[in-house]
Amino acid sequence: MKVAVVGATGMVGQVMLQILGERNFPLTELIPVASEKSVGKSIVYKDKSYKVVSLADAVKRKPEIALFSAGGDTSLEWAPKFAEAGTTVIDNSSAWRMDSTKKLVVPEINASEITADDLIIANPNCSTIQLVMALQPLHNAYQIDRVVISTYQSITGTGVKAVQQLENEYAGKTGEMAYPYPIHKNAIPHCDVFLENDYTKEEMKLTNETKKILSDDSVKVAATAVRIPVVGGHSESVNIEFKKAFEVSDVKKILSETDGITLQDNPGVNTYPMPIYAQGKNDVFIGRIRRDFTRENALNMWIVSDNLRKGAATNAVQIAEYLLNMRFKA
Ligand SMILES: NC(=O)c1ccc[n+]([C@@H]2O[C@H](COP(=O)([O-])OP(=O)(O)OC[C@H]3O[C@@H](n4cnc5c(N)ncnc54)[C@H](OP(=O)(O)O)[C@@H]3O)[C@@H](O)[C@H]2O)c1
Repeated sequence: MKVAVVGATGMVGQVMLQILGERNFPLTELIPVASEKSVGKSIVYKDKSYKVVSLADAVKRKPEIALFSAGGDTSLEWAPKFAEAGTTVIDNSSAWRMDSTKKLVVPEINASEITADDLIIANPNCSTIQLVMALQPLHNAYQIDRVVISTYQSITGTGVKAVQQLENEYAGKTGEMAYPYPIHKNAIPHCDVFLENDYTKEEMKLTNETKKILSDDSVKVAATAVRIPVVGGHSESVNIEFKKAFEVSDVKKILSETDGITLQDNPGVNTYPMPIYAQGKNDVFIGRIRRDFTRENALNMWIVSDNLRKGAATNAVQIAEYLLNMRFKA
């Protein structure tokens, strides 16, 4: 398979290359793409050096798959051009996620919705992916009525500029700011832009994308998204109200038997998920599972995952693997 990685020099693109290599994705040709300023630069894949090319050159080479992580504007303009050339685009930006003609896919949940006609497939937002991985099996068992979520999000979710900001502040240097305030020693309750309803776009992604992936508009999600000076992954404090009664032991059993989830839940020996454990791993880690005694059929949990992996690159590569299998079967 000829594969283009659009945004190959970025945070997600670099992890994308790492994961394609780790999973031995059957590449026949790699086409790394970035902005004009990076054309001609070298990137390394499996110890081999490749030259970065422009979007226009990449389209001409007609890759079978293009993994996009170069921002929404690039996706809006270029994904249709790749699709016209017969390429299937797997897009990490928010450009196509809520488009009713595009599938929003977490492979463990809804890969079976993908058909050969889908030439632009959307990868959900990082904080949504780890949330729905936990919600979907519990929704099947007990029907979720309402979810209240607060996130503690890694700066790697904002890209290379944010990592540079933290490094500068840590070293006492001034430089370009990715956030409106210092992030070192701070918590900023502001991820992505504010909307007219006073929520941020990140918070509304959690609400809207969750409904779409679970194929259930009745699931209510209220979110507060917070950026913290952490690099290993996003953490989420999640309160869920179910329509049906549950036993905590059954919840733990269901989650522990779900592909892609690792339970880390043994408070007696201080075992619970944290970004320092999740970093570099593909699973979603869940712990602190306990009944919420203040409401009927309510549960609290803590969910952590590496936002650059399952929250972005791993999920996209899993979709590409699904497409590959689909083609072999066809
Ligand atoms: N970080 C996360 O956890 C995460 C999770 C899910 C989704 N996403 C999404 O993934 C995308 C990239 O995020 P990131 O964190 O990897 O950002 P990043 O570190 O800033 O990287 C951006 C990448 O896009 C390229 N790019 C920018 N403008 C371009 C253009 N006009 N044409 C071609 N390439 C262009 C950049 O190339 P240059 O190096 O040449 O500038 C770079 O390779 C965003 O849409 C983001 O919302 C990120």
